[in-house]
Amino acid sequence: MRGLQTNRHSSFHHLLLLFLVLLRSDRCFGIVCYHCDSIALPECSQTLGEVGVLPYKECATELTCAMSIVDSITYRGCGAETPIIGATYSKTCSTNLCNAGVYPPGRLKCHHCAGQECVAAPASKPKPCRYHLEEDQCYTDVISSSDAYRGCTSEQNHTLSTSAQLCEINGCNEEQGAWTQVCATCDSAIGRGCKIDLFQVNTGRCNVSLYEECQQDVLLGEQEDKYCFSFRRLSRVVRGCSTKIPTDLEPYVEQLEKCNTSDHCNAGCITQQKCFTCNSVDQELCRTNITAIANSTCSSAEASSCFSCEYSNWSIQRGCGAPPENPQITKCYECDEGAGCNSKDFTRCYQCSTDQAGAGCANWESPGEIYIEECDEPAAPCVVVSFNNATTARGCQKSDFSCASANVASCRLCEGSFCNKGSFPEERLWCHQCRGVQDCEEISRGQTAMPCPARANEPEDQELACLEYFDINSKEIVRGCRSNPELYYECLLRSNHFDSCRTCHSQACNNSPGRELRASYELEAKALSLLQGKSSAISIKFSNAGYGVWLIFSVIYIVTC
Ligand SMILES: *[C@@H]1O[C@H](CO)[C@@H](O)[C@H](O)[C@H]1NC(C)=O
Ligand SMILES: *[C@@H]1O[C@H](CO)[C@@H](O)[C@H](O)[C@H]1NC(C)=O
Ligand SMILES: *[C@@H]1O[C@H](CO)[C@@H](O)[C@H](O)[C@H]1NC(C)=O
Ligand SMILES: *[C@@H]1O[C@H](CO)[C@@H](O)[C@H](O)[C@H]1NC(C)=O
Ligand SMILES: *[C@@H]1O[C@H](CO)[C@@H](O)[C@H](O)[C@H]1NC(C)=O
Ligand SMILES: *[C@@H]1O[C@H](CO)[C@@H](O)[C@H](O)[C@H]1NC(C)=O
Ligand SMILES: *[C@@H]1O[C@H](CO)[C@@H](O)[C@H](O)[C@H]1NC(C)=O
Repeated sequence: MRGLQTNRHSSFHHLLLLFLVLLRSDRCFGIVCYHCDSIALPECSQTLGEVGVLPYKECATELTCAMSIVDSITYRGCGAETPIIGATYSKTCSTNLCNAGVYPPGRLKCHHCAGQECVAAPASKPKPCRYHLEEDQCYTDVISSSDAYRGCTSEQNHTLSTSAQLCEINGCNEEQGAWTQVCATCDSAIGRGCKIDLFQVNTGRCNVSLYEECQQDVLLGEQEDKYCFSFRRLSRVVRGCSTKIPTDLEPYVEQLEKCNTSDHCNAGCITQQKCFTCNSVDQELCRTNITAIANSTCSSAEASSCFSCEYSNWSIQRGCGAPPENPQITKCYECDEGAGCNSKDFTRCYQCSTDQAGAGCANWESPGEIYIEECDEPAAPCVVVSFNNATTARGCQKSDFSCASANVASCRLCEGSFCNKGSFPEERLWCHQCRGVQDCEEISRGQTAMPCPARANEPEDQELACLEYFDINSKEIVRGCRSNPELYYECLLRSNHFDSCRTCHSQACNNSPGRELRASYELEAKALSLLQGKSSAISIKFSNAGYGVWLIFSVIYIVTC
């Protein structure tokens, strides 16, 4: 019990003592501040002011420390002793040694120089920028290989050119301003040895050795535009300096392989080409199943491409390098993208359009006007497409004929020759579409049935229908799709009466015989002529009242029909 009381007592004493000491030290001793100027001690402006580097001093009566810059000279000291008149920056603070640090805080240090000696990487240390700006930057502005400027952007005593390089870390504007780049230069069209080193064939990674050198001056800020390049396309390889690109390569500038890491960095060998090498004359698999044949490394270092050719007798030859010259060859391609690129076959597709071939191109039931198209593009897929206007067309896929073409209603793409066969599109309603007295009178299966066109904004749930009618104006049978609005109106208005426009909903269902469609009209025509015969007989007997009776008969006829 006693011990506890004593302890409480002594804690209170300690607190009191501490309070008195704090009060006393504030009252009786001045604050401690760093004390220097950068004329006598250059570190005064540049160091972070760690203890031991800058001198410090106990101020006599003052309670503040200060830092200032006057005429580019840094001063640190007790509040009142430090000059502030004409200062570009000044600051006071009130804790011990608080006037430490680079002044102002965060002021950037950059290399400063101008002229010819400024082109090389600077040898001296960077200096703080004259002004304090939050967004200050160091610059390196190389005007030519003999004129350059470095400094802080805030100093504004040099107008920056567009190629000036800016950076924001102390001393960062230290890069060399100009250098010479040396590249290998050669062209396989002019001499051997530009593709693969002739002495290191089969060693995998290597550098070519048969080349000349080209040089170009590179200034800091234009590395993007100056590089060594190598170019590879089919049987041609070219290497050189970006300032001397041959004019015939200008269309391919985007495809140049660029490097700038070291001199001759563009001398790397191309990977040796691998091609399928075979002939269908002695190896039928060369045509029928190329995947069953191994592709082999080309024996010649100069063969950087592969080819496939077809002869007029349909035999196929594949191999390394450019295609052979032979008048019996009907078509070839040359390729260089990856191993075994000459595996692609020449494809052939059925080609037709219902605009020319009629229904046969869509329903695949009659052979007229269906052609074979030799695809220009090797291994091109075959396509069968149905457009919104109900035209169905078949052919090789090409830029202006594909499933991505405009107005495509449905489309099928397939791989392999002649795969675009069979009726299409199967999911849409097909109707006989014809007009006239001869072909359209009697329908035999497949004769004229074609997919119906898709109406603009056709509702998804719209039930499609075929229609057929006898046109009382032109006296002909008409068959078609209800989704063709003009035809549907005609069907309603020009058939004998409203139920003479027949519709039905199954595939090619509008195949009623012509005589059935014209039957009701003919019946009525007969009745009419019968009536006409009677009325004229009556009108002879009752010549006076005859006109009125005929009128009554006509009215009755119109009303009852
Ligand atoms: C710009 O001013 C800075 C600081 O005053 C100086 O170090 C530098 O040499 C000057 N640069 C030029 C290009 O005059
Ligand atoms: C090829 O040249 C490059 C650049 O000069 C070099 O880095 C590389 O080691 C060389 N490779 C061989 C296999 O000599
Ligand atoms: C190489 O070029 C890139 C831009 O293409 C550039 O960023 C880089 O600094 C350049 N390197 C050398 C060593 O010039
Ligand atoms: C092609 O050859 C490969 C490998 O021998 C075999 O797996 C494949 O079934 C063949 N394909 C055809 C269509 O014969
Ligand atoms: C096809 O023609 C080529 C060139 O004329 C010939 O080499 C090849 O033997 C012929 N192929 C057949 C199967 O006759
Ligand atoms: C050709 O050979 C290479 C390497 O053996 C292999 O990676 C590639 O798949 C082959 N290509 C074909 C189409 O067989
Ligand atoms: C139908 O559309 C296709 C594609 O837009 C076009 O090529 C064809 O000529 C058109 N046919 C008719 C009859 O308008």
